[in-house]
Amino acid sequence: MKIGIVGLGYVGLPLAVAFAEAGHEVIGLDTDARKIEALNNGRSYIEDIPDSALAAQANRLRATSNHGELESCEAVIVCVPTPLTGSREPDLTYLTDSATALSRVLQPGQLVVLESTTYPGTTRERLQPILEESGMAAGRDFHLAFSPERIDPGRTDYSVRSTPKLVGGVTPESAARAQELYELVCDRVVVLSTPEAAELAKLLENIFRSVNIALVNELSQLCDRLGIDVWEVIEAADTKPFGFMRFDPGPGMGGHCLPVDPFYLAFKAREHDFYPEFIELAGKVNRAQPAYCVDRIARALNEAEKAVKGSRVLLLGVSYKAGVGDIRESPALEIVGLLRQLGAEVSFHDPFVPELSEFGLSSVGLEEGLRDSDLAAIVTAHPDIDYGAVVGAAPLTIDFRGVTREIEAPNLIRL
Ligand SMILES: NC(=O)c1ccc[n+]([C@@H]2O[C@H](COP(=O)([O-])OP(=O)(O)OC[C@H]3O[C@@H](n4cnc5c(N)ncnc54)[C@H](O)[C@@H]3O)[C@@H](O)[C@H]2O)c1
Repeated sequence: MKIGIVGLGYVGLPLAVAFAEAGHEVIGLDTDARKIEALNNGRSYIEDIPDSALAAQANRLRATSNHGELESCEAVIVCVPTPLTGSREPDLTYLTDSATALSRVLQPGQLVVLESTTYPGTTRERLQPILEESGMAAGRDFHLAFSPERIDPGRTDYSVRSTPKLVGGVTPESAARAQELYELVCDRVVVLSTPEAAELAKLLENIFRSVNIALVNELSQLCDRLGIDVWEVIEAADTKPFGFMRFDPGPGMGGHCLPVDPFYLAFKAREHDFYPEFIELAGKVNRAQPAYCVDRIARALNEAEKAVKGSRVLLLGVSYKAGVGDIRESPALEIVGLLRQLGAEVSFHDPFVPELSEFGLSSVGLEEGLRDSDLAAIVTAHPDIDYGAVVGAAPLTIDFRGVTREIEAPNLIRL
């Protein structure tokens, strides 16, 4: 098959590579000229896709900014961003812009699948009318479906192939066409009755995580007051073989999904005069966690008879999670801002993030950073860092990720 992928980011690029690896021709379309140039020169900008994977598919995978090239594709999959506006409402401009461009080149018989995470109703109420500006009707002249992306960047135990794929079509035939498409690259495709059910299933998955992370973040604050080790409690509960699923506390929730997606559903619910309390409460607790971590840093410095003002604080890891360089919505950004407001001299070390341009900071070497700090805070625990050595070298270490559980030292504090 010939498949078009619109939006070549964390979602679109791995999918494009998966289709190419399965022997299909892929046209990747993006509005970012730097990404197109990088891909066409065999350079990947996504950690999970090595340059060698692009090189191996150079004959089958090509990037372009020209929508006209999508005309010859049998299926087009849309993977553009779905962020929030400044007032925390869904920002569908990337989606509507890409749909408008697509409507101008849409061909009879083509299948269009939306993969971007969004509220129930988006495919039918927002995407379909724009595509129908082509003069063709969805379900009759072209096919339309929603299939949520479940990728977890950095994860190696599950792949595009081994993660079951959900699809919901605007008609049974659209669903069947989407099923056929994904069976080319996925071992299991689950067909739902509507795109709305598939849209909501994705939001349920993310809200489930957000709520459970909020629960353990709140527990970490309570444990601090009770003088109980939250990690010991979680590990103990995790020995139960049924009825418990482990989530770990941390410095707050980041990334393009968990801090954003639940509010897509809250928005839709409000349209129906319904106020989903779990979503708002989990968001509130998780958003307060970076400030709580700054409070813990201030208390740790105070114990060492130091003020935050003028203290040198080294953050270890600033991306939103281990093993990736994505800093979108990373709690580290808020921690840097709050520490600076208090007058701390902040530096950071992150092998995946060369700079934080909004703060004018570049990643410093680990040894040099530890030598020149009053306190090291483990914000994101990247692999291949010897945290025992960190505790040994830093005057004071505070661990927000529980990676020093095996270490006991007088200069070590944990969340
Ligand atoms: N990153 C994840 O882990 C993840 C997981 C599951 C679902 N999702 C969802 O998938 C969607 C995409 O997320 P992402 O992380 O890949 O985003 P991303 O920012 O990494 O990639 C999106 C790409 O779309 C391009 N783009 C923007 N407007 C465009 C347009 N009009 N036409 C063509 N290309 C355009 C951007 O240049 C960018 O390369 C979002 O809805 C997100 O919520 C993301």
